[in-house]
Amino acid sequence: MGSMKAAIIGAAGKTGTRLVRESLARGYEVVAVCRDESVRKLDEFATSDGFTVISAPVVSDEETLNQALTGCDAVVAMLITARRLKATELVTSLAGAASANEVKRLVFTAGEGTAVREEGEVYTLRQRIMVSVIPPLMWLTPYSMSDMLKSSKLVNQQSDWEWTIMRAPTLRDTPPTGYRFCKISEVTSKHALSREDYAACLLDSLTNSEHHRRTLTVVSATPE
Ligand SMILES: NC(=O)c1ccc[n+]([C@@H]2O[C@H](COP(=O)([O-])OP(=O)(O)OC[C@H]3O[C@@H](n4cnc5c(N)ncnc54)[C@H](OP(=O)(O)O)[C@@H]3O)[C@@H](O)[C@H]2O)c1
Repeated sequence: MGSMKAAIIGAAGKTGTRLVRESLARGYEVVAVCRDESVRKLDEFATSDGFTVISAPVVSDEETLNQALTGCDAVVAMLITARRLKATELVTSLAGAASANEVKRLVFTAGEGTAVREEGEVYTLRQRIMVSVIPPLMWLTPYSMSDMLKSSKLVNQQSDWEWTIMRAPTLRDTPPTGYRFCKISEVTSKHALSREDYAACLLDSLTNSEHHRRTLTVVSATPE
């Protein structure tokens, strides 16, 4: 891909703003998609060449996404269920918008326990406890692990997409140190990843055809 135009969904968040900055630094055109209330968090990019914002009250409706994906080559999306934003609704609407705009390359974020495992992947005891104990307790929070897991199933079912789900451990606002891929069963509670490294990893993945139709796990390159 020569010059890339990417839609970033969840662009005003902690990882999203780093994705926008790194994409612009790489010379990509960026369509930043975020909630109306978050637009001001993208002010620093407002005058950058090749930068546009599309906002809506909730970013999971097909009309918003259809508009955002116009002319795009690829999408990086936060796979997140938080209050009114449902990851399942986001993926369903993206299916329509991506098909209408002939966008095939989509990279999604995920946590250790919020993505369908690839064949042969095994969870550790800690991870098994996490995926069985935490989801029912999440009604106390604005998030839903079970909706995120369902959304990853939906991604796996999109036969037209060259998708990647990039699972990360706890994210931190620390300086970048590089990233590496590992088995899901190698991840411990001590692992973490700088959001800057995560953003670089998600963008590197956009142009890596070996990542198509894969669910990968990324951690910091430096020993924990
Ligand atoms: N945080 C972690 O430790 C962690 C660990 C592993 C994986 N991940 C993955 O990485 C992604 C990014 O993580 P992050 O910590 O950098 O996320 P974040 O910036 O806190 O939030 C991500 C996006 O979620 C939206 N959002 C947050 N609260 C919302 C609410 N109440 N209602 C509707 N939308 C809301 C925001 O959308 P707007 O842009 O519209 O404001 C934001 O861009 C996560 O979505 C997750 O898939 C995170």
